[in-house]
Amino acid sequence: MKFDQKVLVNKPKSYQPKKNEDEKIMAKDAKEIKTKKTAKSEEKLWWVDSKGKRIDGRGLNDLRNIKIQAGVLPNADGSCYLEWGQNKVLVSVNGPREVLPKHQANPYKAIVRYTYRMAAFSVTERKNPRPGRRETEISKVSGEALEKAIFLERFPNTAIDIFVEVLDANAGTRIACLTAAAVAVADAGIPMRDMVSGITVGRADGKWIVDLNKHEEDAPDAVDMAVAFLPNTKDVTLLQMDGEITPEDFAALMKTAAENVEKVYELQKKALKESFENKKPEMVPGMEDFMNSTPHAEHEEHGERVSLKAKDPLSFDASDYDANENTELEENPDAEHEAFDGGKE
Ligand code: CDP
Repeated sequence: MKFDQKVLVNKPKSYQPKKNEDEKIMAKDAKEIKTKKTAKSEEKLWWVDSKGKRIDGRGLNDLRNIKIQAGVLPNADGSCYLEWGQNKVLVSVNGPREVLPKHQANPYKAIVRYTYRMAAFSVTERKNPRPGRRETEISKVSGEALEKAIFLERFPNTAIDIFVEVLDANAGTRIACLTAAAVAVADAGIPMRDMVSGITVGRADGKWIVDLNKHEEDAPDAVDMAVAFLPNTKDVTLLQMDGEITPEDFAALMKTAAENVEKVYELQKKALKESFENKKPEMVPGMEDFMNSTPHAEHEEHGERVSLKAKDPLSFDASDYDANENTELEENPDAEHEAFDGGKE
């Protein structure tokens, strides 16, 4: 490559642009900034119109459309697919199962391992597939929010693994995931003291609104509060907030959240009911004939003849079993003891 010696020689050693050149550059920059600002202010940026309608046509307290389907992954113990507006999430639950690595096991209760991940294609700008701090934080708080609803002490030394994948995101994904995860845990048949139902509430453009979308979350005065409840007791199991509000507004927002979360809870119950109705007990070949054959078609229950055919195989009444156990013990109080020591005496 040839160097232009003339230019190099003529150029001063420490080259500084002349003052008037600096001024020119600064003036150009200022003009550009001004043009951008003007363009932005001319854009029609609005969040709630004069009739109280939001940009996506919802009223102030309307949720986006929610669709919940339980039991979608046959390889998982429990699963759920949920759409919440544009958000699409998939949850798989495995457990209670052996804890690996073993040192994580708790001898008093099951541990919950909640993993929230966003697919690289779930947002407009590619999301780095490596788990970031945001995902670690959401996994932690969501796992703790679910723990409150599960009878963990019944499964010591085990783990309940919950994997959550966000396939498409438009604000409120942590709440969408938590809501779906609670359904998936119930779908896995893990005993729970209550459901966990979540909602976001907040403010955009000076108006208090429910279930914020991305546009509303990005409003200059936005308040974005994610809340999860045990819906029957209204105990709060998750509470996170962006933005600044007064204590009075906070109390009012919590009330709005508690009222509107009922809608989410109803949809969760509906999804679980539909899933259990579709689950047919697996019949061993010949089992159906056995159930229908005359000698076994009836049995005696509390002195009454009961037809097995009339019984819905899905209707399990725990009191039947307790009653039988108690009767045996009442008749022969030593029965349990005998069974234990092999009836030596
Ligand atoms: O989703 P959520 O509102 O629970 O959490 P957030 O951290 O407030 O994120 C709000 C929204 O920002 C997400 O729902 C995504 O739509 C978007 N987002 C994104 O575009 N890229 C990321 N890496 C993370 C979030």
